Amino acid sequence: MKRLRFWLTACLTALLAVGLVTACNPGGGSSDSNTLTMATSADYPPYEFVDSSSGSQEIVGFDVDIAKYIAEKLESELKIDNVDFNGLIPALQSKRADFVMAGMTPTAERKKSIDFSAIYYNAQNTIVAKKGSNLMNAESLTGKTVGVQLGSIQETAAKDIKGIQAKPLNRISEMVQELKAGRVEALIMEDTVAKGFIASNPDLEFNTIPSTGESGSAIAFPKDSELRAKFDPILAEMKSSGKMEELIAKWFGEDAPVPKKS
Ligand code: ARG
Repeated sequence: MKRLRFWLTACLTALLAVGLVTACNPGGGSSDSNTLTMATSADYPPYEFVDSSSGSQEIVGFDVDIAKYIAEKLESELKIDNVDFNGLIPALQSKRADFVMAGMTPTAERKKSIDFSAIYYNAQNTIVAKKGSNLMNAESLTGKTVGVQLGSIQETAAKDIKGIQAKPLNRISEMVQELKAGRVEALIMEDTVAKGFIASNPDLEFNTIPSTGESGSAIAFPKDSELRAKFDPILAEMKSSGKMEELIAKWFGEDAPVPKKS
């Protein structure tokens, strides 16, 4: 009898210990609790892009700087995975990533499957086309083939415009290539990103279209992730301390670096 009680106690203690260790891992996406794994689609300068100038092929940008700041505050290592935009929500759902920063807009549709932080930056949609195309608004796209990023709000927006043929593509650089090659007549993308591509491709122009529906960027998490409650106060602190403004000036300001080539 005594022996049985001893073994029962031992087993329970062991179970409890395992439970505690599991509960202490806040990441979920990473086995090492001190590492935060961020998934992004690094085709979106100045939010995130591969820095080819340094030869290091490092992923840099506005989102990356924010993520680094937050990871440092949480005393965690930051690991960045580069995947197609359309694969970001699945990465969260399968817990391969702890969070996503990809200039992602918190839409009602996405909120059904993932959680979002507060919005940290706003943007508007634009039409990018060859110089002189004069495509100023949604109506002017009637009858045209329009490139959009697969899985983006721009894809949804394009599908909502009557009489246009949307061509969803994986990467923003592919979209620019399609436009330059004349395989699509226009692109819909966000103003801040369009600006950079126009600076490095002088044969293109862009026109901002009045914003309809949802816009802005927020950090995405797996549903019910406890990271959201940790990230939001840090984002708020970045806004009130001027850190966010500093990063906005660094990446979107007059002297912001223009990424080389499309
Ligand atoms: N804001 C848009 C969206 O959420 C586009 C974001 C695209 N981001 C990227 N890294 N390619 O759908």
